Amino acid sequence: MTRVFSGMQPSGDAHLGNLLGAWVNWVSMQEDRDCVYCVVDLHAITSPAEHDPATLRDRTIELATGMLAVGVDPERSILFVQSHLHEHAECTWLFNCVTGFGELRKMPQFKEKSAGQGESVSVGLFDYPVLQAADILLYHADEVPVGEDQRHHIELARDIGQRFNHRFAPADDPVFTLPKAIHPRAAARVMDLQDPTVKMSKSAASEKGIIYVLDEPKRIEKKIKSAVTDSAGDIRHDREAKPGVSNLLEILSAATGRGVEELAADHDGGGYGAFKGAVAEAVIEMLRPTQARYAELADDPGEVARILADGADRARAVAAPTLARAKDAIGLLPAR
Ligand code: TYM
Repeated sequence: MTRVFSGMQPSGDAHLGNLLGAWVNWVSMQEDRDCVYCVVDLHAITSPAEHDPATLRDRTIELATGMLAVGVDPERSILFVQSHLHEHAECTWLFNCVTGFGELRKMPQFKEKSAGQGESVSVGLFDYPVLQAADILLYHADEVPVGEDQRHHIELARDIGQRFNHRFAPADDPVFTLPKAIHPRAAARVMDLQDPTVKMSKSAASEKGIIYVLDEPKRIEKKIKSAVTDSAGDIRHDREAKPGVSNLLEILSAATGRGVEELAADHDGGGYGAFKGAVAEAVIEMLRPTQARYAELADDPGEVARILADGADRARAVAAPTLARAKDAIGLLPAR
């Protein structure tokens, strides 16, 4: 069966970009694939802003709760916390030794996040994509459902796996499976509502342009109604000329399952006010069941912790043999 792996950082509250770019596919892929989903806390400690340890612990359990609320099914899929397995960090070291400094330096996300930090930028932030490669390759993932911003990281994981196989494994018996990224049809890159030329991001300066998965309906409506559009008044999909309207069309498309062109034709001529009202309503309806389930699950954090402990055991059963094989292939002497 096709194996799927994906992860998300507990570095802030989940937003519409996370949901539409990744989580919607996470949930649907469970139907016919073998899925492994992860709260990547080791990635979250690389972020430039100093993190508060207690907040990180809270966010880790909250994000796992969010994943369950959106529809990750622990009966069918594995859900776990990255740091519960030492295998991810250990495999990262092996991959560090087959990854070029230049490959990491040119990663767009590293360039963005390290900007202004000079020489004090952490080695962890630099090495981040190698840890991500370990996440994916340890599980022999064929497919990685992510937003468009992760494309380069998945390509790097593929390159690292290919290089490792080429150097250390027979051609007919590779150690690692080479993954490919899976993006949603619409909303693979959800943009900030206040500045539709930048992606919606947990690290944005203002929350006005971000819709959080757990935002109340009134807040959602307010944020969408005040989304930046343009002065032309027509409704069509053109990311260059009309980034704000195009972003709202993609959000509406993802929320309703209808095509962007069809929606544009329906709403053109009706004015931005009515269009935004329709987008707000669709988003509120889409989020309603997830918000209700979140409230139920948050009442029972013990149950979420139990699911994560079970998930870690099941994840280890896949990751540990992969790591053992990689250590053997690279020439490390077995302990016994
Ligand atoms: P993270 O935690 O930033 O985001 C989680 C997922 O949400 C997607 N996403 C978006 N999609 C569309 N529009 C947006 N504005 C938007 N913002 C975020 C991301 O593409 C991602 O799919 N490096 C990863 C986490 C990671 C990972 C992995 C992912 C670590 N190991 C292994 C896949 C496989 C990250 O920072 O995602």
